[in-house]
Amino acid sequence: MRALALIAIPLLAACQPAAQPLTPEQSAKLTPKDPRLAQLYAGSCKACHTVGDSKAPLTGDRTQWDPRWARGEDALLTNSQVGFGGMPAGGQCFECSAEDLGALIKFMAGREP
Ligand code: HEC
Repeated sequence: MRALALIAIPLLAACQPAAQPLTPEQSAKLTPKDPRLAQLYAGSCKACHTVGDSKAPLTGDRTQWDPRWARGEDALLTNSQVGFGGMPAGGQCFECSAEDLGALIKFMAGREP
């Protein structure tokens, strides 16, 4: 019985992952699967969004992204296009289309691998 519980508990936890804060090091290891997006990400967003004291929400850290995500994807996209607080317009990615930004935001907010 005890062995069963040891197996069952982690399985249950895996089914309902609670949002865990990430360290900047953990955040910096994440990269979009799509190679082109990965390149865009590495060339701009990553420089701020994996650095603890940049005030930017850490990539993949849902504890930081969920309250922003709750405002809606459209609001996040618009803010990233026009700039928002310390976030420069377009995230300093001059070759990013609106679609690219939307995909990058999903990735960074922990909605897509
Ligand atoms: C120069 C640093 C910097 C770069 C580069 C950068 N960001 Fe940001 N970003 C920030 C900071 C700082 C914030 C937090 C702004 C605030 O809440 O005042 C932020 C916030 C955001 C938000 C949340 C906006 C909201 O409405 O809450 C999104 C979305 C975002 N960034 C997307 C991106 C994307 C996509 C890229 C790459 C294309 C990127 N950022 C590149 C610094 C940066």
